[in-house]
Amino acid sequence: MRIRTQATRPYEDQRPGTSGLRKKVRVFQQPHYLENFVQSIFDCLDGLAGATLVLGGDGRYYNDQALQTILKMAAANGVGRVLVGRNGLLSTPAASCIIRKHGAFGGILLTASHNPAGPDGDFGVKYNVGNGGPAPESLTERIYARSRELRAYRILEVEDVALDRLGCFRLGAMTVEVIDPVADYAELMESLFDFDRIHALLADGFRIRFDAMHAVTGPYARELLVHRLGAPEESVVHATPLPDFGGGHPDPNLTYARPLVESLWREDAPDFGAASDGDGDRNMILGRGFFVTPSDSLALLAAHATCAPGYRDGLAGIARSMPTSRAADRVAERLGIPCYETPTGWKYFGNLLDAGRITLCGEESFGTGSNHIREKDGLWAVLFWLNLLAVARQPVAEVVKAHWRAYGRHYYTRHDYEGLDPEAAHRLIETLRAQLGKLPGRSGQGLRVLQAEDFRYEDPVDHSVSEHQGIRILFEPEARLVFRLSGTGTAGATLRVYVERFEPDPAQQDQDTQQALAPLIRLADEIAGIQRLTGRARPDVIT
Ligand code: G1P
Ligand code: ZN
Repeated sequence: MRIRTQATRPYEDQRPGTSGLRKKVRVFQQPHYLENFVQSIFDCLDGLAGATLVLGGDGRYYNDQALQTILKMAAANGVGRVLVGRNGLLSTPAASCIIRKHGAFGGILLTASHNPAGPDGDFGVKYNVGNGGPAPESLTERIYARSRELRAYRILEVEDVALDRLGCFRLGAMTVEVIDPVADYAELMESLFDFDRIHALLADGFRIRFDAMHAVTGPYARELLVHRLGAPEESVVHATPLPDFGGGHPDPNLTYARPLVESLWREDAPDFGAASDGDGDRNMILGRGFFVTPSDSLALLAAHATCAPGYRDGLAGIARSMPTSRAADRVAERLGIPCYETPTGWKYFGNLLDAGRITLCGEESFGTGSNHIREKDGLWAVLFWLNLLAVARQPVAEVVKAHWRAYGRHYYTRHDYEGLDPEAAHRLIETLRAQLGKLPGRSGQGLRVLQAEDFRYEDPVDHSVSEHQGIRILFEPEARLVFRLSGTGTAGATLRVYVERFEPDPAQQDQDTQQALAPLIRLADEIAGIQRLTGRARPDVIT
């Protein structure tokens, strides 16, 4: 076995986005493309020699091949040991859990999350650090800088290795340990939630349906919901991970998880429905004929947290991404704990979690999590909800409506305009930014602008500053519009418009969301000139 030093030339486009480097599979298949990026990661990690790394992915197309390359490069770069999920599978939350539990130096996660998979789909590589969370921006920027000057990478010349059986073997001087992708994670879940109580709920005939969308959560859901909690086998659907995710788009929302949504609106609907995304970190929660917005979900979990054994002692604080609705803020206020507002992206929660300032955190984009790991966690949210319902013994809709009565309802929606001409999208944001100073005081659709700004975040722990994190406009009576461009898309630009209005009056809390927000939606177009600048009359996806 020989270590080859392979000459290469830098690619200019390897800047990690909101969540790692995400590109079309075909981009990753260019000669040396993956290798360059992986070498750039290794070159930026002080202390990698002899260290333990965790490796795995969501099972999408190119996962297998990339795993082999990364293992050979890890061996050639002096890594001591790699823990790899059997068949190369690890959900993102499980990878985070394993990094923490085994005290690994870090981990490489192969995923493009909810983006479609297959030869024409997307692929991604993400580096997580020793706390189990995504690399901070300072590190991803260094990796990017390194990728632009890279001239060579190192790789072990060896045949591909089999990863379908548990156990250890050597690859050059490095140890490869093939581990059960589910075991550590399932154990952690059992330590947080009242499995006996959930088991009793299910035994009493409470019916659930979990849609794994042919992505990575199938094996996790089967183990937890069926084997450990006793749900009938058919409660978990689309449970076999497929390289093309069955041709679907494993994003658990009202648009892409349509079959699940429809099954919850039928006569014979189960009591509870949930789905997760490609790599298992997102979640969607449904009741019978009822959709729980992710923003409300965070607020409800916070309000009911002490019903779960892992959170019995209460919460230190809550954090939400800036575009997420302010429902959680109201719970925090009542609990007398802080609520932090961070930029979009899970990485911004890491410092707050590490410093013990928060226990729960979440994003409107179907992400919820806690201090148990350093990623958002789809099945964790599902189990938390089941624990809550096992205690409340009321339908999902009733639990949520009671919450609205107690705290007020935040009507909330997100409109996505996908595949825009990047130039037009940037012009829209620039134009908005240029008029921010003139907006306060202006009125329209019965609302008055109180404040308009380009969101800037100073991390309260390390005081690092992130600029231009979204345009935010606050209105009176309490309402809000947020505009930002996606940092995870791979084709054109995506404009996200976040719309929120607070309704304290219980008599007004039962309206249709889009109708309740219609004036604000019109205002968003008036202010930002969406139709004028993008040529689009309506969004592609509404969540
Ligand atoms: C999107 C979501 C964001 C989430 C990220 C990774 O990023 O909006 O909340 O953290 O995916 O799952 P965006 O495409 O908006 O940059
Ligand atoms: Zn994901």
